[in-house]
Amino acid sequence: DRAAEVDRLLAAMTLDEKIGQMCQVWPEQGELTPALVESLRQGEVGSLINCPDSKFIVEVQRIAQTESRLGIPLLIGRDVVHGYRTIFPIPLGQAASWNPELVEQAARIAANEASSEGINWTFAPMVDVGRDPRWGRIAETFGEDPRLSAALSSAVVHGFQQEDDEGLHGLVACAKHFAAYGLSEGGRDYNRASLSIADLHNIHLPAFKSSLDVGCRTFMTTFSEVNGIPGTAHAYLLQDVLCDSWKFSGVVVSDWNSVIEMVAHGFSADEAEAAQQAVNAGVHMEMVSPTFHDNLSRLVEQGRVDEAALDNAVRRVLRLKLELARNDSANQSAEKSVATGATAPRPGAKLLHPRSLELARRAARESIVLLKNAEQTLPLHREELRRVAVIGPLADAPLSQLGCWSVDGSPADAITPLAAIRNAVGDTVEIAYVAGMTSSYANRLTELAKAQKAAEQADVVLLFVGEDAVLSGEARSRMTLDLPGAQAKLVEAVAASGTPVAMVVLAGRPLAIGAEIDAAAAVLYAWHPGTMGGPAIVDLLLGDAAPTGRLPVTMPKHVGQVPLYYSHSNTGRPSPADFRPLSQSQGKDLPAEFQYRSHYVDGDPFPLFPFGYGLTYTTFCYDGFELGAAAIGPQQTLAVRARITNTGTRSGVETAQLYVRDLAASIVRPVRELKAFRRVHLRPGESQAVEFALTADDLRYFDNQGKSVLEPGKFAVWVGGDSTAALGGEFELTTASDPSSQSAP
Ligand code: IFM
Repeated sequence: DRAAEVDRLLAAMTLDEKIGQMCQVWPEQGELTPALVESLRQGEVGSLINCPDSKFIVEVQRIAQTESRLGIPLLIGRDVVHGYRTIFPIPLGQAASWNPELVEQAARIAANEASSEGINWTFAPMVDVGRDPRWGRIAETFGEDPRLSAALSSAVVHGFQQEDDEGLHGLVACAKHFAAYGLSEGGRDYNRASLSIADLHNIHLPAFKSSLDVGCRTFMTTFSEVNGIPGTAHAYLLQDVLCDSWKFSGVVVSDWNSVIEMVAHGFSADEAEAAQQAVNAGVHMEMVSPTFHDNLSRLVEQGRVDEAALDNAVRRVLRLKLELARNDSANQSAEKSVATGATAPRPGAKLLHPRSLELARRAARESIVLLKNAEQTLPLHREELRRVAVIGPLADAPLSQLGCWSVDGSPADAITPLAAIRNAVGDTVEIAYVAGMTSSYANRLTELAKAQKAAEQADVVLLFVGEDAVLSGEARSRMTLDLPGAQAKLVEAVAASGTPVAMVVLAGRPLAIGAEIDAAAAVLYAWHPGTMGGPAIVDLLLGDAAPTGRLPVTMPKHVGQVPLYYSHSNTGRPSPADFRPLSQSQGKDLPAEFQYRSHYVDGDPFPLFPFGYGLTYTTFCYDGFELGAAAIGPQQTLAVRARITNTGTRSGVETAQLYVRDLAASIVRPVRELKAFRRVHLRPGESQAVEFALTADDLRYFDNQGKSVLEPGKFAVWVGGDSTAALGGEFELTTASDPSSQSAP
């Protein structure tokens, strides 16, 4: 069995071979150099990252498995983040679908495509909570909410890691970046995270825990320092929480060079100390930097690292390799092969399969959020269209629509909105296309004039603005949240035409673009939607499908409000709910009763759009709120019911959301927290009762010792279509297991 095989191998290994299993190497030149061949033969490499192609992978696996002393196969790692060749929306866009089942299917396709090329390990999902849109990596998160992130993270892990009796197919998943990377101060990447233990456990760890609960085999450390300790040497996180408390038996890999970077952090005196601190804290494999390779043997000799720590790390790596299903018949005959993982292109596997593209189109469609639709501008009526102006720099930008971290995606595969609209309406409609921006600033005025003229001559303007993909992702922080370049001017010019404008925003983060949204009649927020983004957008514009997306992040009005998230805690002097907008007052006419309340003197504290928000082509109304009991005990479940009615004229999908507030607790709790959500499909006029089962466990939180507590007391609960839901009531959690005040749930 596997455990015996691990023991057998470990017992046969030299110290250097053990260290080799803890090293992940980047073939920087993209070719099999003599030095790399020799390292593989010597068993000095446990894993490779970013191999150039599948031919290379087959060859390195062959060398490792047939020419090294023990024939141990390699883990072949790559960032398959939101698709391999078929690119799905960026994770933040996928989160806007609020649809775990869909997100799982997308991950499954990505895993099938990537593993068919010999890749067996992805550095995804990124499960960090993102609450600062200045941070470029918010694009890779599932947004600001721990519960939504946890639901989607576990779905992705499921999709990547497909297990059966033979073992693990698809890709080994990696929950990253452990932990609190999303808190990078000022939104500047790699920056420090400073937070309470309670916040760490309540906000930043749940998605990691849910990933682990569904079997996530690897975790990656965070680059950043967390309360003064770099994530790569954070014994509390790696040892106490992950391995001891959560019983994680998989592999912890450092982030790229993050071991050596502990010297720059000012935490390690030199590279040897960095290696020592990382291993002793619980890192099992070093990504790219060579401090393990160069120092571990001496550190063991000097007694600074115990060989048992190496044995523990190597055991985990070997176990993982043995768990990978064999599917490389080419290498099966190799006598020394202990397990292979996927090492050769699989016959029958097809990149960009029509079914994969269809799912990418659906995922993109479901990720798009309708933010505004004045006078039912959308959907457009195909039969009434004569002249359409397609304007804007993102209308035909295939690379940008793929989004950040689409490493193996190809712009040549992407269907842009411009191409899709042309396909959809054929020759019957005249399309005038103006990018409206060029890289040369000198042409700006001519371009704006051209755009305005095209708008004036059209029945409707489809305006595509936003961010290029290079503005989000790793190391792509921004200090402003506006439309880059002269795009605000473009929106102004186009709106001045008087023609109705349907604006589509493609971006890697929520942008503070209230003025542009005001100028447009309708607004679809499409994130970076991936390969099939164009057709998906056009499906919604033409009403072949209705929008279902909901914001997984709060959209701020101004960058100065950041971080702005719905589940904040109250101050002792909260802003009154009717404290609306003070933006005009500039502090001069501030009503006296607001003066010493938490507020800005030069703007209001409210978001542009709240978390959970999204419109569609019909409307819904909630009523009939009802609680199954006035009180529940610690082992009980509360039924929370409401009725939803489709009050419009089209079928639609509503995402019903349940929020809770702990009204008084030993530590201040958020003003509301999402606890459950459900998508409900309703025909025009149809009503449906939704019932959520709120368990006492849903009311638990972690205290500042990292202990999960359940405190009796009063709770408020709301059900509605976004985080401002007003329909709700109160109940009590009692200590009695059968509270007398309780009626049957
Ligand atoms: O997986 C990534 C990580 O998210 C950031 N640094 C590089 C890693 C590997 O490419």
